[in-house]
Amino acid sequence: MSETIQTLLTEERSFEPSAEFATQANVNDPEIYNQALADPVAFWEGWAKKLDWMKPWDRALEWKAPNVKWFLGGKLNACFNCVDRNLQTRADKVAILWEGEPGDVRKITYRQLKDEVSRTANALKSLGVGKGDRVCIYMPMVPELAFTMLACARIGAAHSVVFGGFSAESLFDRINDAQAKVVVTTDGGWRRGGVVPLKKAVDDAIVMGCPTVESVIVLERTGVPGALTNGLPTPGYDRSGWTEGRDHWWHDLVPHQSPDCPCEEMDSEDLLFILYTSGSTGKPKGIVHTTGGYLTGVYATFQWVFDHKEDDIFWCTADCGWVTGHSYVVYGPLANGATVVMYEGAPDTPDKDRFWRLIERHKITILYTAPTAIRAFMKWGDEFPDRCDLSSLRLLGSVGEPINPEAWIWYLQKIGGGRCPVVDTWWQTETGHMLITPLPGLTATKPGSATRPFPGIRATVFNDMGEDLLASRKPGETVGGYLVLTHPWPGMTRGIWGDPKRFADVYWSRFADTYFTGDGAKVDGDGYFWLLGRVDDVMLVAGHNISTMEVESALVDHPAVAEAAVIGKTHELKGQAISAFVLLRAGYSGSDGLVDELKAHVAKKIGAIARPDDVIISAELPKTRSGKIMRRLLRDVAEGRALGDTTTLADPAVVNALKDKYESAEG
Ligand code: PRX
Repeated sequence: MSETIQTLLTEERSFEPSAEFATQANVNDPEIYNQALADPVAFWEGWAKKLDWMKPWDRALEWKAPNVKWFLGGKLNACFNCVDRNLQTRADKVAILWEGEPGDVRKITYRQLKDEVSRTANALKSLGVGKGDRVCIYMPMVPELAFTMLACARIGAAHSVVFGGFSAESLFDRINDAQAKVVVTTDGGWRRGGVVPLKKAVDDAIVMGCPTVESVIVLERTGVPGALTNGLPTPGYDRSGWTEGRDHWWHDLVPHQSPDCPCEEMDSEDLLFILYTSGSTGKPKGIVHTTGGYLTGVYATFQWVFDHKEDDIFWCTADCGWVTGHSYVVYGPLANGATVVMYEGAPDTPDKDRFWRLIERHKITILYTAPTAIRAFMKWGDEFPDRCDLSSLRLLGSVGEPINPEAWIWYLQKIGGGRCPVVDTWWQTETGHMLITPLPGLTATKPGSATRPFPGIRATVFNDMGEDLLASRKPGETVGGYLVLTHPWPGMTRGIWGDPKRFADVYWSRFADTYFTGDGAKVDGDGYFWLLGRVDDVMLVAGHNISTMEVESALVDHPAVAEAAVIGKTHELKGQAISAFVLLRAGYSGSDGLVDELKAHVAKKIGAIARPDDVIISAELPKTRSGKIMRRLLRDVAEGRALGDTTTLADPAVVNALKDKYESAEG
């Protein structure tokens, strides 16, 4: 922690909002910060009142750390707020503008969305799904994924979306942890012209033992004869795992359902969804979000941070398998009656200009993407954006990891033509919505800083002793420490599914009554926050959380591995890449073949996103005399730095030998 905090702040550029942007912005009065800070509860109540409630709340907030409730006694339905209430004024407006990787396009109006979601909801009901049940969704980015999420919300079932890049085994863990009754999937999904076999992974997961799963709904996406496949042969779906009675084709089950389905009356604190994220121990955490507070938070932040207007075409490139897809592909945009773009595939298929072609074709006005993608675009070269018309864009957003100033400036200039404000937004699966972010009509931005807490959010940095460094600093001084939140906000997670003790330990035990984010941050003299990355054992690989322990467990699961230590090393494109140091069991010897096998083993156990970049087979790991692995030194080795202090090592020769080995392996 202290190493990173001591990094000097060298970025001094600052960009004021243009007068043109500021005048038309949804929010441009700086007073709102003071008002919200003085009474955050009243501020959030103001937003909640803009939603449609079946019954108003009696009390706005009940708070005793770690338990929080917002809008107590209030009743509403999230699907109604995202779909039905838009029918009064926007029935024929496009709600979801979807493009598949092969190039097929669908435009779904709010009226059609209501019918599609209701049919899906009735299909779920016909399989016995009701209020309080959990539905696991394992699909590519197709409109039916959003229909299913909203259908669950409509009937009061909770969804648990599992990213399609996760392995059968990861899916198995998540299905069982949530005790899902139904799994909704597709035969496959398109990715770089190939097919990701999703139904096969569901079959494999269920064979491992998922006793709660009664039914599986399968949308035919890739195996459709005559599907648009850009000249590729239709792949045909491997039906060996098809189980009669359990499995149902979407096209047999959903289309003939009634397009009418009432919205269940939900308590503000009823479960809306569970979403799994990696923690610093191996087991993923099922992050719980409830209805009223979450919807209020995503509704407000979407409107102010993206300065959303009725005729915007908004594109958040995140997959719905992550929280960004939940909050800013589905709930935030639709609650605001926006037109939201969904794209199924890869950014480099059929060419590296795919994103820019999408923007040009659909006249997208707001783009929200991740630094890892921006860095890849920079590397691919300016020719790709240069050959497309990006003049429809008026605002750019970034999320998922710290954005380096070079990437920020490139994004502003090359993609935003120098005219679009850039909003770098900090938040987490657990926070539900953006918490530290510029307001584009109001905030002067600095490249690499997420700027200031959203109105109503109380964020600060603490030192190890739990002292508030912002409260005690001298005027203009830069301070660095642990990023914490000292007042509840509506979208905050209500817990870890089935594990209240872990929830209390992870977020609430380090500092009394204070939410610990797990991130480090500096705050400069102007009160701007500069995020420094995780301070725990969670890596941020291409913006995705992966715990070192999760990868270590996958490695030691292989018969050749006796012990493993995993670290995230700095990587030009991905932010962090995974380096693994492994000790072999007696009888095994290192070879390139084994290294490849170990990488493949991790990908199979967790998913391709967790595949290590390098696996170093070593004779020993650097340990302290008390037996703790010194990851800091492994990071020095992997990043090619001079080794830090080695005096606490039991045997300092170990790490020097490792360094030699690593350098020779890297060539
Ligand atoms: O370390 C922070 C980083 O991503 C973590 C949260 O990851 P996840 O729950 O997967 O949610 C990602 C999308 C909201 C944070 O603890 N992070 C997210 N956004 C930023 C960021 N780090 C720096 N700057 C950001 N804008």
